Amino acid sequence: MSFQAPKGTYDIVPPRSATWLAVREALSRQPRLAGYDYVETPMFEDTGLFVRGVGESTDVVTKEMYTFEDRGGRSLTLRPEGTAGVLRAIAEHGLHRGQLPVKVWYVGPNFRYEQPQSGRYRQHTQVGVETIGGDDPALDAEVVWLAAEAMRSLGLTGTRLLLNSLGCRECRPAYRELLQDFLRGLDLDDDTRRRAEINPMRVLDDKRAEVQAQLTDAPLITDHLCGACKEHHEQVRSYLTDLGVEYEDTPRLVRGLDYYVRTTFEIVHGGLGAQSALGGGGRYDGLLATIGGPDLGGVGFGLGVDRTILAVDAEGLEVGDRSRCDVFVVPLGAAARRRTVTLLRDLRRAGLRSDTTYGGQGLKGAMKAADRSGAAFALVLGDRDLEQHVVQLKDLRSGEQTSVPLDDLVAAIVASTGQ
Ligand code: HAM
Repeated sequence: MSFQAPKGTYDIVPPRSATWLAVREALSRQPRLAGYDYVETPMFEDTGLFVRGVGESTDVVTKEMYTFEDRGGRSLTLRPEGTAGVLRAIAEHGLHRGQLPVKVWYVGPNFRYEQPQSGRYRQHTQVGVETIGGDDPALDAEVVWLAAEAMRSLGLTGTRLLLNSLGCRECRPAYRELLQDFLRGLDLDDDTRRRAEINPMRVLDDKRAEVQAQLTDAPLITDHLCGACKEHHEQVRSYLTDLGVEYEDTPRLVRGLDYYVRTTFEIVHGGLGAQSALGGGGRYDGLLATIGGPDLGGVGFGLGVDRTILAVDAEGLEVGDRSRCDVFVVPLGAAARRRTVTLLRDLRRAGLRSDTTYGGQGLKGAMKAADRSGAAFALVLGDRDLEQHVVQLKDLRSGEQTSVPLDDLVAAIVASTGQ
């Protein structure tokens, strides 16, 4: 009997795993440069956390959660996203009682029972940031900038940044009613009518042409923001302009999760087909209070590693170092094989990635393995070399070979690799 990765999941194996690591590293580098601390939370949580945190009217909660009962009768759910768990951890550990804002980053898999297609999986990985206890629009701008900068640092040029404000507890209810009144006058199917009653803004996001055609005159949230939201949004926009971030005002941008207020944004890519969002986020003032913490503001994002890699591919970018090694040791003879073990130890301790062959491979096969490892240098070590306390250092790029005293070897390689 043979097995395959479960439907909607995939393995990350070499050589692709090198790209995976490099993209994950590049996305998390920006928050680390901006003083965000690392957090890690469990991959499953009490089901109630997501029902309250993500929102009962979202597809994520109603259709996509992996929920199960454990042997102790608790209802648990594999996390469908990162924000709820991270906020739970901030509240549980009282991080908000220290210096504010709390700024953290995380990376890890999320699970959603979706119909799999390119760019949409049942397990996907996000690099995310969350901040708690900051109302300053400069923080919104920092979060948006970090996401945009992460994509820029990978060399991606086909991305667009969509920006919107969803208003707040003060101004959204009136807008919601206005939109509902408008939607009630349209010719919509029963499902969409129901959605209009529960979460009317999601209807604006409907992809069907017959629905979109009727929405041309729909009222837009940005025309109905209260003074404070308008001011906040203006400031976020002007910070982004100062930062040189190009964004598109997108008053119909609605995110799939319920917790957003004010700033919302998405980074989309033209080369990915239907699943075009590489990442998104926004402000979620009040969410912490919903899950039992104090009533503090927050803003964050989640960037999809899987889709970012698809975008990197679509643009034909080479990201990551495909080489496994800096140095590859080729022992010829029994004494050389023995010496190789300690030589590798010393090379690795000096921070040089080093490997060798096993099982007494001949010179030809070993040199092929050296090439395949991506190493810049091969060290050919014969029994006679050992007697003379030297090793043949071969630069695999230029083909140049020099005899180097074994005692000076590590220093010589460190010097020539610049490590
Ligand atoms: P989200 O928009 O649901 O937001 O997901 C963020 C990103 O994760 C998406 O833009 C996409 O790249 C990736 N993603 C989501 N679902 C899938 C999937 N099924 N397959 C592949 N990739 C996927 C959130 O999850 C929020 N927690 C983001 C956030 C953090 N907002 C504030 N803080």
